[in-house]
Amino acid sequence: MRIWPHEVAAVIIASMVLASMALAIRAQNSKAVDEKWEAPPEAAAKPNPESQNPEASAVGRKRYMRLCVTCHEEDGNGQAKSAADLRCATVQGQSDGALFWKITSGNLTKGMPAFATVAENERWDIVIFLRTLKGAEGDCEKKNGAK
Ligand code: HEC
Repeated sequence: MRIWPHEVAAVIIASMVLASMALAIRAQNSKAVDEKWEAPPEAAAKPNPESQNPEASAVGRKRYMRLCVTCHEEDGNGQAKSAADLRCATVQGQSDGALFWKITSGNLTKGMPAFATVAENERWDIVIFLRTLKGAEGDCEKKNGAK
């Protein structure tokens, strides 16, 4: 059997198609990391630029009462809408940068909206307010086990 130049070309094209499919699948797999909804390290490491602002917590509380309270409730327990309990150590143990990133990007498939349109300094203020929510006992593991 003789191999014609166009057959060689077809084999080359076929392997290029296969290679790009393999790359596409790898790209899809790398997206699966986002489903764990963890802040990228550089976002988590950002210091809170509002940490020296004495008004931060009060401003953050106002925003929280307007934007977050329907799901997370006034004390942060989040029971009404099965939202995360923001008093839990699993949340309070995260860095300001990580919480800022979560508030900014949301996790829509799990019901947490993205608040990227809220002024950046006010998102940092909200994080400072979140620190005032008291630690919870009990069902923290269960309620924040969505991840
Ligand atoms: C429409 C309901 C809803 C609103 C409004 C909402 N959240 Fe959430 N939030 C959720 C849900 C549901 C989750 C859990 C998502 C998950 O498990 O992936 C969540 C998760 C979170 C988390 C992550 C908790 C963790 O375990 O890491 C933080 C922080 C948070 N919300 C803060 C806020 C703040 C601050 C606001 C207001 C600016 C807000 N949320 C508004 C529903 C809401």
